[in-house]
Amino acid sequence: MKSAIAIALFVAIGLMTAVAVGFRPDLFGGAAAYDAEQEGLKERIVIKFSHVVAENTPKGLAAEHFARLVAEKTKGKAEVQVFPNGMLYDEDTEIAALRRGDIQMIAPSFSNVSNGIPEWYVLDLPFIFDSLDDVHAALNGEVGRLLFETLDRKGLKGLAFWDNGFRQMASSVRPLREPADFKGQRFRIQPSRVIEAQYRLLSAQTSAIPFNETYRALETGEVNAQENTLSNMFTKKLYRVQKYLTISNHSFLGYAVMTNGDFWNRLPSSVQTAIEESARETAAWIARKAAELNEDNLNRMKRDSGLTLYALSPDNRAALISVLEPLYAQFAREIGPELMARVRLPQP
Ligand code: LMR
Repeated sequence: MKSAIAIALFVAIGLMTAVAVGFRPDLFGGAAAYDAEQEGLKERIVIKFSHVVAENTPKGLAAEHFARLVAEKTKGKAEVQVFPNGMLYDEDTEIAALRRGDIQMIAPSFSNVSNGIPEWYVLDLPFIFDSLDDVHAALNGEVGRLLFETLDRKGLKGLAFWDNGFRQMASSVRPLREPADFKGQRFRIQPSRVIEAQYRLLSAQTSAIPFNETYRALETGEVNAQENTLSNMFTKKLYRVQKYLTISNHSFLGYAVMTNGDFWNRLPSSVQTAIEESARETAAWIARKAAELNEDNLNRMKRDSGLTLYALSPDNRAALISVLEPLYAQFAREIGPELMARVRLPQP
């Protein structure tokens, strides 16, 4: 009897203790305990966004702005992680990495897209845009729509176009104004056959060199000239290894913001909407900001360097266009009649 009371007491005390410490049967081999933080992690969508430029450039700032908007609009469900300065991939490898699904977003410049999809050569044609308004009308209209269709073919999904700005030309040999000035100079270019042909017509040589190796190539004399936007020249200090800068506005450097098509199709539609809205709102924001940044960076370069500045006169421009004329016919077939009909070719 005594031992029966002792056992009953032991069981009762054991049960009371278990309740007091929050005993739950699943701790002993059942389903894992519910953990709100783990659940959040499982559902979170991580979007790795890789790019090659500095953080304080139009694309660098746009990527950060976009990441903030996506976090706000999805209430943290989708997180955009930005990797700048080519720390994950450079421009030669980022499109393949996106197609493999190793990263989820990139914003290559148009010339890097044209390297694999020739229709995009249209945006590299020199002197087809006279102003930013012209650029925006084309990209937000039929030209942009047709170009995004070409991405579908490659399993990619275009989301928006982001601005950097017009390309300018710089050299450490002599000022670049008239066609004869280009003779024998060696330009670092992006890997676009249109840009290569442009300089060949001007009797210059070219080397396609990754963006983040351009400073070294100029410093060692592997090349002595290059074209880029003012913000790219400023942030990578290219102006420090150049003597003459010509404001030529000869072509536009912008970005095609894109993601992987399969990744896109698996996203919940509310997240797709948030991403699309964020990419478009960022496009409007960066269009204003990029113009300010390019102007500010030009002023800093004027102030802080020994660069001599030139602007193309209308006569210089006409002379360059007449030398470049054969280029438009040369690439018309690869670009295709639909796109060619929608751009205004320059008249000398
Ligand atoms: C370049 O290679 O000059 C540009 O593509 C860099 C960039 O992405 O703005």
